[in-house]
Amino acid sequence: MSLLQWKEKHSVGISEIDAQHQRMFAIMNELNDAMASERAKNVLEGILDQLVNYTATHFITEERLMNEHGFAGSASHQRVHEQMTAKVRAFQNDFRQGRVAMSIDVMHFLLQWLDQHILGTDMEYRDFLTSRGVR
Ligand SMILES: [Fe+2]
Ligand SMILES: [Fe+2]
Repeated sequence: MSLLQWKEKHSVGISEIDAQHQRMFAIMNELNDAMASERAKNVLEGILDQLVNYTATHFITEERLMNEHGFAGSASHQRVHEQMTAKVRAFQNDFRQGRVAMSIDVMHFLLQWLDQHILGTDMEYRDFLTSRGVR
């Protein structure tokens, strides 16, 4: 069951970015399903690794586009990405060491963050980048 899904309202008008956001929702939902069906810790770890790695790729894509086109909000957007990366990596580390468990609260946090980040921070570059021909 999907907790949250990509919808048209999440579209930033750039196909590469929309596809990456869709994939991030898919991995998070996969992680949630695995947690709900009590899959083994190493299975959850594997999906979490995918999420962390894919998110890093996505952040690089967005930051490259913003920098290439000289978007004024680029530096502050990058800081938001860095804060999220630090949080998720800390959780990933704690989870690996067995200090914390995957929980509904963690899933809720991840999905809410993605939803709100796209609708808030990511939307700030939409008009700027699309007006420069980025599709
Ligand atoms: Fe994004
Ligand atoms: Fe972003």
